[in-house]
Amino acid sequence: MTHELTDVRLASPSSNATGRPAGWWRDAVIYQVYVRSFADGDGDGVGDLRGVRERLPHLARLGVDAVWLTPFYVSPQADGGYDVADYRAVDPLFGDLADAAGLVAAAHGLGLRVIVDVVPNHTSDRHPWFLAARAGRPGCPDRARYHFRPGRGADGALPPNDWESVFGGPAWTRLPDGEWYLHLFAPEQPDLNWAHPEVPEEFADILRFWLDLGVDGFRVDVAHGMVKPPGLPDVGAAEQATLIGSQPLPFFDQDGVHEIHRSWRRLLDSYGGERIGVAEAWAPTSERLARYVRPDELHQAFNFRFLNCPWDAARMREVIDESLAATTAVGAPTTWVLSNHDVVRHRTRYGSGPQGLCRARAAALLMLALPGSAYLYQGEELGLPEVTDLPDALRQDPAFRRGGGRGAAGGGRTDAPSEAAGQEGLRDGCRVPIPWDGARAPYGFGSAGAWLPQPAGWAGLTVAAQTGDPHSTLELYRAALELRRVLPGLGAGDGVEWLPAPAGVLAFARPGFVCTVNTLGRPVELPVPGRPVLSSGPVGPEGPMVQIPADSCTWWAI
Ligand code: NOJ
Repeated sequence: MTHELTDVRLASPSSNATGRPAGWWRDAVIYQVYVRSFADGDGDGVGDLRGVRERLPHLARLGVDAVWLTPFYVSPQADGGYDVADYRAVDPLFGDLADAAGLVAAAHGLGLRVIVDVVPNHTSDRHPWFLAARAGRPGCPDRARYHFRPGRGADGALPPNDWESVFGGPAWTRLPDGEWYLHLFAPEQPDLNWAHPEVPEEFADILRFWLDLGVDGFRVDVAHGMVKPPGLPDVGAAEQATLIGSQPLPFFDQDGVHEIHRSWRRLLDSYGGERIGVAEAWAPTSERLARYVRPDELHQAFNFRFLNCPWDAARMREVIDESLAATTAVGAPTTWVLSNHDVVRHRTRYGSGPQGLCRARAAALLMLALPGSAYLYQGEELGLPEVTDLPDALRQDPAFRRGGGRGAAGGGRTDAPSEAAGQEGLRDGCRVPIPWDGARAPYGFGSAGAWLPQPAGWAGLTVAAQTGDPHSTLELYRAALELRRVLPGLGAGDGVEWLPAPAGVLAFARPGFVCTVNTLGRPVELPVPGRPVLSSGPVGPEGPMVQIPADSCTWWAI
């Protein structure tokens, strides 16, 4: 497979760099680069934009369509860059604006689009707006851009309402002058007041800044959070972070957020080249989530219900059906995802040791066979496990300390088995820098060490070690992405046709194609549905029946 070396910026509205029809995002495979852990170009032990640029050929060869870069803006790094102090500048830790522009151009040169993060729900507490608010007095205009309130109780010593931070503890911090400010995440991340006219104006300008620089879209952080209901009513329940994504909550998924997304869609559409928005949104139902991808809103919304689904055929089928129905009803693709920088890596979630890896490989093939778009998280193509034994002293995730060493209650799945148990909500273990080559740490990550220690046993997991090994997870991903482009039945589409299958097995058809998934811990025999073109495990010799291995997925051409 080759990547056309065309600058996607030059592509016409009816086609993209790969010559496929418009709506590239409908079935795009997008690779998440967690910048500080991808590749270190300047030898300080922290990944940076130069490092990403140098490693772009890996992504082109992998066969993804686009790259999503996590925040690299000026930030005190209280939450891995999701606390932005200057939205139009690159943090020196990661490079400078010229590096950002150079990276975008280099990616385009390889036929890869680039999506960047935008963080609109909150700023850093070092943002000039918040510095001014903090320096001001209760009731001053500078405080109106955030949510400042007097406290409750006789002396105002109690927070204004019962809202809890996603990272644990109250969602309010009191200033010495007695007023409290709202932060749904860390105290260093004060929530913006989107009812203040300067806030939407400022963010429209920030979007234009990056669109003018050439980015192809935005991953919208906390896309469900910007609008708070009048009066900031109490939730009336504790452990609120555990309710995110399953229960309505007054601080998330308010109807008003959709007006913001509509205005951003108009802004994106005013640029050529199909620039997109992808919502990081937590909504209580698939139908509520689908509202973020109505035709005049964002293009994609991560399907966290799929990510959170255990390795169970019946539950997976339910989630797949429900997700496809909800997004099809609004004419949008489903956006599948298995891992990201906030959750335990799926290889570890699905089980320990070899079983977790078998299931992770199978899940990837399942995800890539479903209609819609898919996001890969750096390192999953190498089958990386979660690093579960990081010393507490080295952990940097603010959720770790605010959650009393337990992490963010809403940050992971609730029914994680094996090594993943106890890691839920601890977000450093999936952020360990990835191994490129060599026999020992830092495995080609950079010339110095790595900001989080890499395990001693990763030599066999490096990109170099896996390249050319037909049984490696890397070669499985490469083959899957290539076939996804070649087989006409894969990629975009509305639905799947479920085929009869024994309990514990999923089988579905798409045009000219069948996918079978055996979620059982033992092999099963199935009637041969077609010609096997790719499998995550060794498929038995074909007769009228074929044996498919435990915890595996097979693609068949028919
Ligand atoms: C979601 C991001 O993915 C996560 O890393 C961050 O901590 C929160 N939003 C707050 O910005």
